[in-house]
Amino acid sequence: MSTTRTQVAIVGAGPSGLLLGQLLHKAGIDAAIVERQSGEYVLSRIRAGVLEQVTMDLLDEAGVGQRMHQEGLVHSGFDLLFKSARHRIDMDHLTGGKKVIVYGQTEVTRDLMDARQAAGLPTVYEAAKVTVHDFDTDRPRVRYETTGPNGTEQHEIASDFIAGCDGFHGICRASAPRSAIREYEKVYPFGWLGVLSDTPPVHHELIYANSTRGFALCSQRSTVRSRYYLQVPLTDKVEQWSDDAFWQELRLRLDPEASAHLVTGPSIEKSIAPLRSFVTEPMRFGTMFLAGDAAHIVPPTGAKGLNLAATDVKYLSEALIEACVEKSHAGIDHYS
Ligand code: APR
Repeated sequence: MSTTRTQVAIVGAGPSGLLLGQLLHKAGIDAAIVERQSGEYVLSRIRAGVLEQVTMDLLDEAGVGQRMHQEGLVHSGFDLLFKSARHRIDMDHLTGGKKVIVYGQTEVTRDLMDARQAAGLPTVYEAAKVTVHDFDTDRPRVRYETTGPNGTEQHEIASDFIAGCDGFHGICRASAPRSAIREYEKVYPFGWLGVLSDTPPVHHELIYANSTRGFALCSQRSTVRSRYYLQVPLTDKVEQWSDDAFWQELRLRLDPEASAHLVTGPSIEKSIAPLRSFVTEPMRFGTMFLAGDAAHIVPPTGAKGLNLAATDVKYLSEALIEACVEKSHAGIDHYS
């Protein structure tokens, strides 16, 4: 077995793990990341796309905000649609100048991956059988396997802290003692059918639509790429939904103007997401910390998931920097 040493062992190379790695690197702290999927697989996952101020600020702080500012679309409001009439919510005015930026999670992930590569920082992709050990001590360890030319190789990372950034289905939360963890969950009795298409968005901002046929959301990733969602019964299968059927149903849930302006085209991704709200506490188990989807997930309704993950990473990075540099545990003691 090969053993390496690092200050922070990060499990998961989604946005949480990569952003944490980048912020720690900026502070001169050594971190290793292990990810069970390939880099291409991580980049192929279609997820959130609306960044709030906290996320924009953190990406800037991490030194990876350049492309976001160039390519992201700044939104200062959104529309709510009721009974075929749209009402604009002027976020900018109502919050004293706060805006959001539309920039896909995939792009955030790509920028973070590129920055990590440019800095010569390694990420172990396709790490199998990742396990976490001894996080009730100050010498926690992460173990994993890789497949090399000589077959399976065993690895161990000895660290001061473990960051569980491994999403809802990750290993870190699952490894915490059951008696030490409280979970709260609400599973909603419907799903969201999402379509991504290379078509211009129906409106320059988001439209949240309430209709007797069910909820619909008109979102976007760029001026030429749209993301639409329809609320559907959980019993629906994605194969039942042709592109034509999707566009037809979306039209029926929009107001006449939006319906007339809707540009349709082939879907480049189509899936049904079951919606769930889940929160776990605490977010710390000895020397192991949870961040992002590993600790809590929300339905995509309010575009909060990625922003909550970034907020966790903000506090966790500050706490870990304080612990590693100033040898003060005040931050990590308050993290949860
Ligand atoms: N070992 C190593 N890596 C793992 C393991 C494991 N046992 N289990 C999961 N992972 C990896 C996943 O493959 C994934 O790449 O951890 C990563 C977790 O990434 P995300 O699920 O994207 O979670 P997070 O980084 O917290 O980002 C939160 O994702 O679902 C959206 O709305 C949410 O935008 C928010 C974002």
